[in-house]
Amino acid sequence: MRKIIRGGTIVNASGASDADVLIDGETIAGVGRFDGVDAEVIDAAGCFVLPGAIDNHTHMSMPFGGTRSSDDYDTGTQAAAAGGTTCIVDFALQMHPNGLRSSLEEWMGRAEDAAHVDYGFHMAITSADRETIADMGAMVEEGVTSFKVFMAYPNVLMVRDDEFLAVLERSRELGTLVMVHCENGFAIQHLVNTALANGQTDPIHHALTRPETMEAEATGRAIRLAEFAGAPLFVVHVSCRDAAEEIIAARSRGVEAYGETCIQYLFNSIDDLRRPDFAGARYVCSPPLRDAANQPFLWNALRFDHLQSISTDHCPFTDEQKRLGLDDFSKIPNGLAAIQHRLPMMWEHGVREGRLSMTRVVDITSTAIAKMFGLYPRKGVIDVGADADIVVFDPNRRHVFGTDTSFMNVDYDIYEGQELAGSPRVTLSRGTVVFDDGKIVTKPGHGRFVRRSLFDPLAV
Ligand code: URP
Ligand code: ZN
Ligand code: ZN
Repeated sequence: MRKIIRGGTIVNASGASDADVLIDGETIAGVGRFDGVDAEVIDAAGCFVLPGAIDNHTHMSMPFGGTRSSDDYDTGTQAAAAGGTTCIVDFALQMHPNGLRSSLEEWMGRAEDAAHVDYGFHMAITSADRETIADMGAMVEEGVTSFKVFMAYPNVLMVRDDEFLAVLERSRELGTLVMVHCENGFAIQHLVNTALANGQTDPIHHALTRPETMEAEATGRAIRLAEFAGAPLFVVHVSCRDAAEEIIAARSRGVEAYGETCIQYLFNSIDDLRRPDFAGARYVCSPPLRDAANQPFLWNALRFDHLQSISTDHCPFTDEQKRLGLDDFSKIPNGLAAIQHRLPMMWEHGVREGRLSMTRVVDITSTAIAKMFGLYPRKGVIDVGADADIVVFDPNRRHVFGTDTSFMNVDYDIYEGQELAGSPRVTLSRGTVVFDDGKIVTKPGHGRFVRRSLFDPLAV
């Protein structure tokens, strides 16, 4: 049966227009007026009809600090859909040296038959030996066209600069995109050891031992390595002005450097880590939350295309999991729960409060991400032939964040009690309604793995 989304205002990154959307099966069959067409009607009067948001930075069931992030592909993608996100690109982690295939298989197995919206993978390389570098080609054949390296977390996830360079060189040959977590891992380790030796064990010391300069230094170094290798680079979770300025400087000299920030760096600050009774642990992520003085700069970086994506870095841990670091902040699992909040928060504080246009919010939550990560024009746009991944966003559907409205598998909500004027009413994934007025109506397994195309520098 065909569907018509009727009476709304379609907002693409390229502009807005009043039109209906005709869906045939999984794809968009028409944009215009379809009076008299026999189809199931979804009433969108008074609503904005948006391309489904894409979250290019999530961690479902991610191993970290002896535990795993608490959302799996079932609960995490329910929360995604409830927040208007119809596709995630999650991180598969290389779990063993000498190759990538078994790790990809492991992550594919976890997501299969579990997800409610479509998903892809970036492959995070933690040991860039010869077989691994060779296997990057095999990942491309599987539709995994972006890689990630960590300059942080020594002895766990971090790669040395020579390994990083080898990944960049191979990526240039393959036409893929390298993503990087920029923090100076060894220098931070020194600061952490010193703090602990001085008895400084509270969550706030997580932030104090990871200063902005450590992120900015690593960002500049990563960009220089990419520039030398002639490979494009995407800097993940840019948290502060000094790091963003490294990207801006690189782009102004013609380097293909791109980046994202995450909602927590716009809406939270280092002061959250000082919350009493160990509640600050809920806000422990890396890079850490910063002084709020950085936030206007990050908003402007999104507005002026210095940064191309707003993501979540969704990596939730329950209070019990966070308590692993009760006596030692360095043992608190790193990550925040935010996948459900991104689009509504960007609409409320971006569009309604006049910081960003509607079209820019669509771009940085969907279209630009689709282009950067090889999903466009199948996703990221409402147009004929695209997947019918669509959000009916009702600007008058009041929503209050909290554990009672959250689909995330975590026992608190960092935005508990925050009220929004509008929120998603219906979310469709490939023509199927996943989220309808507060309820998830799909079964696990609706979401499918998406093969992504190679990075196209002229598309972004
Ligand atoms: O604290 C964070 N960001 N946790 C997830 C892992 C990472 O570094 O992205
Ligand atoms: Zn990271
Ligand atoms: Zn992350």
